[in-house]
Amino acid sequence: MQPLAGFAWVETDSMRLRPVEESDLPAMIAIHGNPATHTHNPAGTPDAAACAASLNAWRAHWDAHGFGYWAAALHEDPHAVIGFGGVALKSIRGLPSLNLYFRFAPEMWGRGLATELAGAALKAAFASLPHDVVYGITRPENLGSIRTLTRAGMERVGEVQTDVGPPSVLFSIHRDALQIDS
Ligand SMILES: CC(C)(COP(=O)(O)OP(=O)(O)OC[C@H]1O[C@@H](n2cnc3c(N)ncnc32)[C@H](O)[C@@H]1OP(=O)(O)O)[C@@H](O)C(=O)NCCC(=O)NCCS
Repeated sequence: MQPLAGFAWVETDSMRLRPVEESDLPAMIAIHGNPATHTHNPAGTPDAAACAASLNAWRAHWDAHGFGYWAAALHEDPHAVIGFGGVALKSIRGLPSLNLYFRFAPEMWGRGLATELAGAALKAAFASLPHDVVYGITRPENLGSIRTLTRAGMERVGEVQTDVGPPSVLFSIHRDALQIDS
């Protein structure tokens, strides 16, 4: 399936966001497989095989649905992947739902990049998909993630039991609540 119009190739102030590709595996292992990006993850850091399996699953999601998690690069260095994120389908409380996800290389933190990506993902989701709500799941101690979800306009709506560890916190935003910057 071809990527949906609003998801194919997205530009933000700082980044280009594109569908993940097989050639992103080294970046996936460097970023998604970096323990520094999983300090709050009760499941621990995925090894190289788990990173490859996730990348394959993310690519299959694009093929099946025409949208999914992006690979992010700065305009000034478009071939260097610095993070991953966007919206994809996920079972939340047993229902197929849209999940917002983001993970950047530690050297890229603190520059507003996750906020930019989250904003672009919500804009694309509500412009191109029928879903009225997007969710975000994170750990209560993950202040950076909570702050990013809140900056994107999401509100804390409860807790959700994930695969491992104590319940995580659940955030959501309805399409009517999204502030679209022109
Ligand atoms: C969470 C993460 C994506 C934030 O990325 P980022 O690009 O640094 O975020 P931004 O620069 O857009 O900052 C967004 C907000 O979060 C705040 N923030 C970022 N990191 C923070 C931290 N460690 N503690 C407290 N607040 C933090 C920023 O100050 C900003 O809030 P403000 O605008 O009100 O000041 C990044 O730290 C990361 O990749 N972490 C590892 C992966 C992860 O935890 N992903 C979420 C899984 S659920």
